[in-house]
Amino acid sequence: MSNKKSILVTGGAGYIGSVLVGALLKAGYRVRVFDNLSFGGESLLAHWHDSLFSFTKGDVTVAGDIDRVLADFKPEAIVHLAAIVGDPACAKQPDLARKVNGEGARDLYARAKKAGCKKFIFSSTCSNYGKMEDGAGYVDENSALSPVSLYAETKVAFEQHILNDKDRPAGFSPVILRFSTVYGISPRMRFDLTVNEFTREFTLGRELEVFGEQFWRPYCHVYDFAQAIILSIEADAAKVAYNVFNVGDTDENYQKQMLVDEIRKFIPALKVKYVQRSQDPRDYRVAFKKIREVLGFRISKRVPDGIREVKASIEEGVFADADARQYKNI
Ligand SMILES: NC(=O)c1ccc[n+]([C@@H]2O[C@H](COP(=O)([O-])OP(=O)(O)OC[C@H]3O[C@@H](n4cnc5c(N)ncnc54)[C@H](O)[C@@H]3O)[C@@H](O)[C@H]2O)c1
Repeated sequence: MSNKKSILVTGGAGYIGSVLVGALLKAGYRVRVFDNLSFGGESLLAHWHDSLFSFTKGDVTVAGDIDRVLADFKPEAIVHLAAIVGDPACAKQPDLARKVNGEGARDLYARAKKAGCKKFIFSSTCSNYGKMEDGAGYVDENSALSPVSLYAETKVAFEQHILNDKDRPAGFSPVILRFSTVYGISPRMRFDLTVNEFTREFTLGRELEVFGEQFWRPYCHVYDFAQAIILSIEADAAKVAYNVFNVGDTDENYQKQMLVDEIRKFIPALKVKYVQRSQDPRDYRVAFKKIREVLGFRISKRVPDGIREVKASIEEGVFADADARQYKNI
C-alpha cells in the first residue's frame, strides 16, 4: 500500500488529466478520477489494473455525486480540471459553461473544504490576461486580468472566488495554476490545440491558413503540466496557499509565425497562408519567474519536442482518423 497522499482528479479522463493520472501513479499516489466522461473514458484504461487507481463516474454540477466521492475516497488533495474547456466550447454552450466552470467549481470547493481536504489545485489559464498593455513587455501574476471570452470570464470569476474567500480553515490550501496553452500527445488526444493542430495539418501536407501570425502566446507540454501540479501538491502549504502561479517557461512564448517556423525545420516544404489580422483580443507574452523561484519548476520539453512527437504519431498512423470529432472540444 502506498503511504503517499490520496488525490482526487476531477476531469481526469481529459487531455491534461489522463497524463496527470499516469504521472501521479508513477509517483506512488493513490488516485481517484471523477469525470462525467464527456469524451469517453478509454484514456484511463491503461491504469485500470493498477491497485492505486480508481474511478467514479460523476458530475461536478451534481452535489450528490461530489458528496459520494468525497465520503468514499476522502482525498487529501483535489486537482480540479473538470470544465467546459476553450473559447469555442464555452461560446457554444454558455449556460453549461457557467454551470460547470462557475457553480460546479464553487460547490466542489465548498464541499472539499468542509470535508477536510488539505489542498485544492485549480487549473486556470493564462488567457485570463487577454491583451497585454505593453506590447514590448511581459505579463506576470500581478498584471491586470482582461478576459475576452466567456471561458476566461468563468476562470477569472472562480479565481476571485478563491482569493476573496474569508472562510479559511487552518490546513486548507487552495492553489491557482494559470496554464499556458498546452501541447503534446495525451491518451485523450486533442488536435484543436495550436501546436498539435498546426503539426497535424503540415504533416498531412495540407495548406494551413494562419490568422494573426504576429500575436504572442506561451506554450507548455502536457507532461510538464503534470509535473507542475505534482510540485504544487508536494509544496509547503505556506508557499502556495491562496497563491497564483503561471505555469510554463519565459523562453516558450511564441508568435504563431514562430510556431510555423519551428515546424518548417521538420517539414521544409510546408504550405502556409498568413491571413492579416490587425486586432486579436488575445495577445500576451508571459513571465514564469515565480513558479521557477518558489516551486523550482523547470520544463523538460520545448515546442520542437512536441512537434516531433505529434508528427511521428501522424506519420506512423497511430490515429486512424486524426480529424475525428473526438479529438476536438467542439
Ligand atoms: N488545454 C489547455 O491548453 C489548457 C490551458 C489552460 C487551462 N486548461 C484547463 O485545464 C483543465 C483540463 O483541460 P483539458 O485540456 O484536459 O480539457 P478536456 O476537455 O480534455 O478535459 C476536461 C475533462 O473534464 C470532464 N468534464 C467536463 N464537464 C464535467 C462535469 N460537469 N463533471 C465532471 N467532469 C466533467 C470531461 O469529461 C473531460 O474528461 C480545464 O480546466 C482547462 O480549462 C487547459
